[in-house]
Amino acid sequence: VSAPDTLPRYRQLADEIAGLIGSGALRPGERLPSVRQTRASRACSAATVFQAYYLLESRGLIRAAERSGYFVAQPPRPTPLPARARPSGEPQAVAVSELVFQLLGTGGHEIRAPFGSAFPSPALFPLDKLRRALTAGSRRMSPAQLTSHLSCGDEELKRQIALRYLRQGLTVDPAEIVLTNGALEGLNLALQLLTRPGDAVLIESPGFYAALQALERLGLRAVELPTDPAEGADLEALETLIERHAPKACWLMTSFQNPLGSLMPPERKRALVALLERHDVVLIEDDVYAELQHEGLAPLPAKAFETRGAVLHCGSFSKSLAPGYRVGWVAAGRHAPALLRAKLSLSLSGSWPAQAALADYLQGGDFDRHLRALRRALAAQQRAMLAAIERHFPDDTRVTRPSGGYFLWVELPEGHDSLALHGAALAEGISLAPGPMFSASGAFRHCLRLNCGQPWTPLLEQALARLGELIRSQRR
Ligand SMILES: Cc1ncc(COP(=O)(O)O)c(C=O)c1O
Repeated sequence: VSAPDTLPRYRQLADEIAGLIGSGALRPGERLPSVRQTRASRACSAATVFQAYYLLESRGLIRAAERSGYFVAQPPRPTPLPARARPSGEPQAVAVSELVFQLLGTGGHEIRAPFGSAFPSPALFPLDKLRRALTAGSRRMSPAQLTSHLSCGDEELKRQIALRYLRQGLTVDPAEIVLTNGALEGLNLALQLLTRPGDAVLIESPGFYAALQALERLGLRAVELPTDPAEGADLEALETLIERHAPKACWLMTSFQNPLGSLMPPERKRALVALLERHDVVLIEDDVYAELQHEGLAPLPAKAFETRGAVLHCGSFSKSLAPGYRVGWVAAGRHAPALLRAKLSLSLSGSWPAQAALADYLQGGDFDRHLRALRRALAAQQRAMLAAIERHFPDDTRVTRPSGGYFLWVELPEGHDSLALHGAALAEGISLAPGPMFSASGAFRHCLRLNCGQPWTPLLEQALARLGELIRSQRR
């Protein structure tokens, strides 16, 4: 069942009204229908309407005026964006894995506010329908398929993925799609294919910690690129760094970058691909948040602008449909045969039942409906968390405002220590992702990534308020 069906009535009503406020259909200062009107128009109880209005009030989206009802609140003064990082530009060995594993642990604490999580809430995924698709998908498999075709992966799933590309305007032959155990395996295989130990690889700063871990595992050197919190990698710096360090590959998240949430505009993506083609540097495009735009159409990937079939576009269902199924893929263009061999020699194939289930689900035609609900939920949750940050964090906090995905990158004034904050928060059941996880140089100590993929509740509001107190207590 997709998210909205499983939510209590008041939450559905609150999310719907929050959506109208977010889209501008209900404007600041406008009066909401009275409790009596809403009760009648929705055929629900007054208590349901009151609960919905209280929730919206606690999110800072509406305010009660004595004896005259509820009004859409003025949006808070927008918090400024974080500054653009200035990495050294020198290739450096990577040694973050130990820190990352330590910080991903919970230290034995029960987590009540998973702000450090990499996933949206499981409640936002169609788990029952997936369960049914697992049964239907495995019924479709002949016993012989379980052994004889194992190495190529599920043909129907590759066809369904190719169809999704086609709807975006990209022609991707199913034969160039290599199915992998999540995007992470595809990304690692792509990196391994293109590099030898000691090579330089361009990555964003701040960047996804698993990319850093992949570089570390393969003995590669990271060249960190300045990355704009709104528009992504800086292309001028990119060209300078290519000329200086002759990197073998460039691993970028062009849409809804992790952790910044930045989105490269289409012209920047086009220029990126042209630049990389001119210098013969291969792009590994990590695009696992591709379909999680909060509004409108999914952004085109940089792969859409290539002319040589060299971009390795890595996608996944982990964040959009089926976390835990570990199904991802690489649209590998001219690298497909080599990548397939690398995949075969590493792990032969992904799990066929999981692939068959997703193929069955996609054939059923429900994915887009689920995505629409998921995007609406993520957008509403992001608005709620931003409003809560405005309420509870110090005035000199900076924060991103991504147009997709479910991460916020928070920058506190220099001197704050997100590692210490992490320790103190974890002891109270609140997780967060400290800035140093996202750089080979240990930078970003005063920054943190927060997950807004959880439906907003009074409990999360309290936890965020507590985080605000812990931040203030770091000031001497
Ligand atoms: C940017 C990015 N790439 C790749 C992955 C891994 O995706 P998967 O779970 O499909 O392996 C993640 C998951 O956190 C991610 O954030």
